[in-house]
Amino acid sequence: MRIGVLTGGGDCPGLNAVIRAVVIAGARLHGDETVGYLDGWRGVMERRSVPLRPSRVQDLLTRGGTVLGSSRTNPFATVDGPRVAVDHLSEDGIDALVAIGGDDTLGVAQRLGPLGVRAVGVPKTIDNDLSGTEVTFGFHTAVETATEAIDRLQTTAESHHRVIVCEVMGRHVGWIAAWSGIAGGADEILVPEVPFEVAEVCGRLTRRHERGRYSSVVVISEGALPAPGPDLDAAKAATASRSVDQFGHVQLGGIGAWLAAEIERRTGYESRHTTLGHIQRGGSPTAYDRVLATRFGVEAVAAVHDGTFGKMVALQAGRIVRVPLEEAVGRPKPFDVRLLAEVAAPFFA
Ligand code: F6P
Repeated sequence: MRIGVLTGGGDCPGLNAVIRAVVIAGARLHGDETVGYLDGWRGVMERRSVPLRPSRVQDLLTRGGTVLGSSRTNPFATVDGPRVAVDHLSEDGIDALVAIGGDDTLGVAQRLGPLGVRAVGVPKTIDNDLSGTEVTFGFHTAVETATEAIDRLQTTAESHHRVIVCEVMGRHVGWIAAWSGIAGGADEILVPEVPFEVAEVCGRLTRRHERGRYSSVVVISEGALPAPGPDLDAAKAATASRSVDQFGHVQLGGIGAWLAAEIERRTGYESRHTTLGHIQRGGSPTAYDRVLATRFGVEAVAAVHDGTFGKMVALQAGRIVRVPLEEAVGRPKPFDVRLLAEVAAPFFA
């Protein structure tokens, strides 16, 4: 078979490991030829691709990013875009397409299905917000990176008796904030799922300082916001977006800086902020993500050869399964806030 592969959306550690697995499993088990489209769906729209042979991908397991490049191009952003994508895949002789991406990239794969594109999805995102799978590859590495950063912030916060607000990624969900915050011993963890009251955050920080703890680290997701009221209006004004991508997502960022300033103004504690940003997306995948990415890639090839299209490979209860793409896209998987509740009493009171 001739398999096309693409990586779309925000990059994350493990993309190259999936590409490697798809190419090697396809070639060694089935004699497949694999073609890599460059820069996500943009490569399909512009008909730019490269042949991928096992010798070319063999050493990609540990490498961060994606050698194919990525973009947030959406073929459905224009009226004739979907037809162009279908025609190009057909002209290139693609029998099946492995789309590696998050909600947007896989949403395109799903919508192209009825137009004749035979696709299998592989779930990627550091945010871990894709439904249908317990974990997406990239999340584990991002948590490790954020935790290491929080560890470092703890010692400098302590030295200077400061409050440090650390903003982590997480557009709709608080998975990274919760996991790295708990792992890094944060004093406050603020997530998009639970709108926060600035007064309550300041009250808890003050009580802790009065009990003799003179430094605090607050971890906040980029998508977290105060509860409705004047603080929400002020936070929104301070973090107003600069741009919108082809899938309609506004560029986030700035809530950590706004909150640090508010904490300092209301408590008098010297405060700083750090935004981890794309540091969380770069670098080599952890062992966990290398294994998960490899399992996903091998299973995607198996799905192609079983003729199981319109599915996404997924992790459920430790096993690799296939779920319909429509179960995965269009509804971000919320982080289970019970995780925070479990540790709230001893650590966040
Ligand atoms: O891939 C998801 C994500 O990492 C979000 O957490 C974040 O809001 C977004 O990507 C940032 O994307 P960009 O690379 O366009 O700045």
